[in-house]
Amino acid sequence: METETEPSRAKPFLRVLAGEAVWPPPVWLMRQAGRYLPEYRATRTKAGNFISLCTTPDLAAEVTLQPIRRYGMDAAILFSDILMVPWALGQGLRFAEGEGPLLDPIRSPEGIAALNLDGVLAKAAPIFETVRLTRAGLDEHHPKTALIGFAGSPFTVACYMVEGRGSKDFAATRGMAFSDPTSFGRLIRILQDATTEYLVAQVEAGAEALMLFDTWAGLLPPSQFRRWVIEPSAAIARVVRKRCPTTPIIGFPRLAGPMLPDYAARAAVDGVAMDTSMDPRWAAQAVPATMPLQGNLDPLALVAGGAALEAEARSILAAMRGRPFIFNLGHGIIPPTPPEHVAQLMRIIRSA
Ligand code: CP3
Repeated sequence: METETEPSRAKPFLRVLAGEAVWPPPVWLMRQAGRYLPEYRATRTKAGNFISLCTTPDLAAEVTLQPIRRYGMDAAILFSDILMVPWALGQGLRFAEGEGPLLDPIRSPEGIAALNLDGVLAKAAPIFETVRLTRAGLDEHHPKTALIGFAGSPFTVACYMVEGRGSKDFAATRGMAFSDPTSFGRLIRILQDATTEYLVAQVEAGAEALMLFDTWAGLLPPSQFRRWVIEPSAAIARVVRKRCPTTPIIGFPRLAGPMLPDYAARAAVDGVAMDTSMDPRWAAQAVPATMPLQGNLDPLALVAGGAALEAEARSILAAMRGRPFIFNLGHGIIPPTPPEHVAQLMRIIRSA
């Protein structure tokens, strides 16, 4: 029996990424492990700071599994952060309370040359250990839940590396891409190589699917979108696919808008995640019916709960019915989200 010889094939999340229109659709939520959960806040306090939490495998595995224990999502996502790749490359990183991430900005050829590509796998070793522990925990207690590994896409990670912090327009980064494409291209190339190795190592440690987060992709005009979003993502996906042929990759080109079909056709990913601004009815027509889509409930609807949550979730479900689809948010859960609204959402999806 296929389900006995190939247990992963029984996981609904992986069946969808193999092209099957499973219904009701599998569900997981971006930032499902996070500050809205009291048990997360307790473990986070124990770790001291966010980077220690990401690099202490038993604590990181614990927070990865917390939402699965509560709600039984179809996928768990490794608890880490996209900025752990610059950290593993040797860039100074800290998470300041109430300020988000702060990095020592890199804006010169010397700064780029100082990045240590050869040290990435050794420095990120605790993260791969987290993957191993989490997978063991899922295999033992949640055999239908798949484990997702992830990384930021080169462009979005470069945004933080160049800017040194969050920004609404990442003007220094976009400026560098235009005024010094040679240096910017060198940085993107280092990130492409680091990310490829980092993702393959997650698969070797037990990740069953991968996601590439490109949060700031939508800041770019089309020519730059093709050069700095589609091309590097495709280069990563092609090498990862060669080395890990059975591991599907989901791409999340946030705010791509009308560039979504181009991304779906050329980024070499197996599935595409939609952000909150995407009309799922438009995406259903614009992206081939065989391509799995994921998304895209507004996290604020989850904060609201009740009838607003139900109406919004049902309209996404109606637009996606009949195609391979994974229910998710269009961006991460935010801290004020009442945990019982996540339970309400799970009931809505399970009864679709
Ligand atoms: O549950 C999951 O989704 C897995 C873990 C995960 C985190 N960050 C944990 C986290 C994932 C997949 C990410 C991705 C990430 N990190 C992205 C891409 C997706 C997106 O949200 O757009 C980006 C841009 C980052 C960078 C980042 N990390 C920022 C801007 C911040 C500060 C904002 C905030 O919410 O505090 C972080 C910190 C961070 N990453 C937290 C978590 C749970 C909060 C840290 C804390 O607990 O204090």
